[in-house]
Amino acid sequence: MLKQMGRTSQTMLIILYVLKTVEAFEMEIIPASKAVAQIGETLILTCNTTGCALPKFSWRAQMDYPLGGKVYNNKTYSTLTMNPVSAESSNTYLCTVLCNKEKKEKNVQVEIYSFPSDPVIETSTSLVVGETATVICKIHDVFPSDHLEILLKKEEHILHRKTFYGDVSTKTETKTVAYSFNLTTEDNGKEITCVARLQIADMDFEPKERLTSLKLNANFGPQNTFINASPGNSSMEGHSLKLTCVTESNPPAQVVWRKHLANETIQHFIENNVLSIPHAHFTDSGQYICEVINPVTNKTEKAAVNIVIQAPPKNTTLTVFPSSSVKEGESVTISCTAAAVPAVQIILEKKIGDVTTTLKTEDGKYTIDKAQPKDAGKYECTFTNKFGSHSLDIELDVKVPPQNITVLVYPSENVKEGENVTITCSTYSNPPSQMILKKVNQDKEIILPAVNGTFTLYNVTKNDTGRYLLDVFNEVGNNIKVIEIAVVGKLEKPNQIMPLIIAFSCVTAIAIPVVAILIYVSRKAKINGSYSLVKALRLKV
Ligand SMILES: *[C@@H]1O[C@H](CO)[C@@H](O)[C@H](O)[C@H]1NC(C)=O
Ligand SMILES: *[C@@H]1O[C@H](CO)[C@@H](O)[C@H](O)[C@H]1NC(C)=O
Repeated sequence: MLKQMGRTSQTMLIILYVLKTVEAFEMEIIPASKAVAQIGETLILTCNTTGCALPKFSWRAQMDYPLGGKVYNNKTYSTLTMNPVSAESSNTYLCTVLCNKEKKEKNVQVEIYSFPSDPVIETSTSLVVGETATVICKIHDVFPSDHLEILLKKEEHILHRKTFYGDVSTKTETKTVAYSFNLTTEDNGKEITCVARLQIADMDFEPKERLTSLKLNANFGPQNTFINASPGNSSMEGHSLKLTCVTESNPPAQVVWRKHLANETIQHFIENNVLSIPHAHFTDSGQYICEVINPVTNKTEKAAVNIVIQAPPKNTTLTVFPSSSVKEGESVTISCTAAAVPAVQIILEKKIGDVTTTLKTEDGKYTIDKAQPKDAGKYECTFTNKFGSHSLDIELDVKVPPQNITVLVYPSENVKEGENVTITCSTYSNPPSQMILKKVNQDKEIILPAVNGTFTLYNVTKNDTGRYLLDVFNEVGNNIKVIEIAVVGKLEKPNQIMPLIIAFSCVTAIAIPVVAILIYVSRKAKINGSYSLVKALRLKV
């Protein structure tokens, strides 16, 4: 059986060989019947013959359109080269071959397309959440565009679909679709895809679908900004504190730290959104503000936190306004203040001798509307919290001008020549008063100061008759008393003639003993032991 099959094959080969040697005239077009070419490329149509020694070729386009290519004739074949292929190249090409008298022809249909590149996606310059975002997809050099379909997708969701079925296209075109939508935070990082399809039935080319994707970079924020304080908003002095500014922003926000009412920039260690205070001091208490800015949108947001550093009372003060020494009747305010350290209790007490009175303060302030001598004394402010206690005190002095003045003239306002006159003056003042006696209508201004509160005039003469002004004064006021002295006839008993004395004794009654001011003049007068008023007064002049 095998032997028989072998013999049959042998016979077949012989027949084929005979056929070849006596080959008939044949032709073919390559590619056969149909060619698909892209605009811009090169297309070669080959018209090949067998069984003809000297074939004659001719090429023709249907409807006698120009060939749009170059013909190269070879011995047994001819080529039509279209370089480049254009939109007009779409036609049916006919190759006719003459061999001796025998004529054969075949045609090939050339189909043209253009779909050379992937779509190009563009978006609006800056994509900001809450604003309209526009996505533009461009398909360059497409033909025939009436077969084009463009899809815009966000992830798997189709945003927009467009076809150009009605278009009449004679050349390559750039087709564009644009789609606008309101950008949300969720869109950030999502993929936008532009799919372009050039669907032509029975046309064989690749690719028929091209796509390009881009990830949305949605700028947003800053938003939901807050400060996280670690270990908490309240920390013990000496402990560490870390403030972190948390915000949502794309691109990441730039952070600026500030402290409320602090002029200088914060000295603490700042690394972008973290502010570290390694050893908190009570002065680190206060409001901290972090301001964040989105570098693309320039939008800003702020967050603030109040930090309290716990410490014993600090920066305590006790002040008296206008002064710790005031005039009777003036208003005086005593203020106790301490730095903003938590839970400081302020107690103001008045201490006179063993008597302690707690005063009712308002924000550490105590006001005496009209100061009286009884208000003078020691005021003590005590600052206390659970970390410590501290006291300050101050002495308040209430000054009183001379008052309740009584003047006693001894023996009387009417005296005889050669007698002594004593004036006793009592007053109440703080500080002690000084006293000066002036004689009115004197040729020259003559002033007689008190000697230990006493004016002593010896051996008065008629010239001493007149009106005297007794000026009682201290630094906060004065009071003037008028005294009329009349010196009449001489004493009758010559034996009893003694130096006449007018003694002014003025005692200032105050809490503090009287200190009379000795002035040069008075001392001089005293040294003389006995002198006339006129003489004493002249010394002063
Ligand atoms: C023409 O056809 C012959 C026989 O099939 C083949 O050997 C030859 O390569 C072809 N020539 C061209 C240019 O295609
Ligand atoms: C943001 O501010 C910068 C600098 O001031 C400026 O150049 C930029 O144009 C601003 N951007 C916007 C979106 O306003």
